Amino acid sequence: MSRNQDDHRPRLSRRDLLVTASTLVPAVIAGGALAQSNGAAPAVPARGANDKVALVTGSSRGIGAAIAGRLARDGFRVTVNYLRNRDLAEHMVRQIEADGGQAIAVQADVSDPTAVQRLFDANDAAFGGIDVVVANAGIMRLAPFGEMADEDFDRMLAVNAKGGFNTLREAARRVRDGGRIVTLSSSITRLRTPTYGPYAATKAAQDIYASVLAKELAGRMISVNAVAPGVVNTPLFTDGKTPQVIEGFVQRTPHRRLGEPEDIANVVSALCGPDGDWVNGEVVYANGGIV
Ligand SMILES: NC(=O)c1ccc[n+]([C@@H]2O[C@H](COP(=O)([O-])OP(=O)(O)OC[C@H]3O[C@@H](n4cnc5c(N)ncnc54)[C@H](OP(=O)(O)O)[C@@H]3O)[C@@H](O)[C@H]2O)c1
Repeated sequence: MSRNQDDHRPRLSRRDLLVTASTLVPAVIAGGALAQSNGAAPAVPARGANDKVALVTGSSRGIGAAIAGRLARDGFRVTVNYLRNRDLAEHMVRQIEADGGQAIAVQADVSDPTAVQRLFDANDAAFGGIDVVVANAGIMRLAPFGEMADEDFDRMLAVNAKGGFNTLREAARRVRDGGRIVTLSSSITRLRTPTYGPYAATKAAQDIYASVLAKELAGRMISVNAVAPGVVNTPLFTDGKTPQVIEGFVQRTPHRRLGEPEDIANVVSALCGPDGDWVNGEVVYANGGIV
């Protein structure tokens, strides 16, 4: 991966590092946890050998938060993206900083291409470039075909299919040579469970995106993959399901438990680490064996 970016990186204080994509210009959040009353720039903690930068969409909670935390522990400076849950995103930044890392939180709706450009602009302004992009933000609306509402279908297309595209397009333009790009697919593309049709279709798009983009970036040593979780213990999966339905998925999983966000973060970390280079253009299934 690219190194020696330090000379070009603007040195920002922690209070500069909480920004919104709608304003682009780094902003102090009045009363926010990152604002400092004396305005002094704190000492930036020394990092390990890995001084690279990662951006994770939808990392205020769930799988994205686990990925952001893991990549920070791996030594990446991290841009945390969120849609609505600013408090959770700020909490992620504080956690990363408490562990000795660096992070910023940036609001952006991935379905909006302009907002995604501003998200990457904010990352570049804070950290001077990007080495790893994880297109994780996603939503799930379930219904049988005959009952699926147009607005639910359209929103899944906008956030998952278009949002994934918006993120990967910006990644294709900006990730430095030797970097990594990961998009979140789902094992539902193989399970094909009733009510999951439109959602599964938007996740299958990620598999295609990864394999095509891997070829388009040939010669730049950028590996692009889709990671396909099974059932993972997050609001996206558990909301609206009875304990019996959840237990049914557990019983279909040979490891007899739900996946945890950290199970997926481990896989993304491996793909984004120094030994992940040779996996390229693949769909990596991480599901405890449910498929
Ligand atoms: N959980 C599973 O069982 C499972 C299985 C297979 C694949 N996946 C995939 O894994 C990814 C993460 O899922 P999860 O379970 O962690 O979901 P989650 O707990 O619901 O978290 C979703 C995250 O995405 C963000 N988000 C939602 N819409 C967004 C938008 N338009 N723009 C920017 N951010 C947005 C949310 O931000 P706010 O908090 O600000 O709203 C949140 O940070 C998704 O792509 C999902 O399809 C999940």
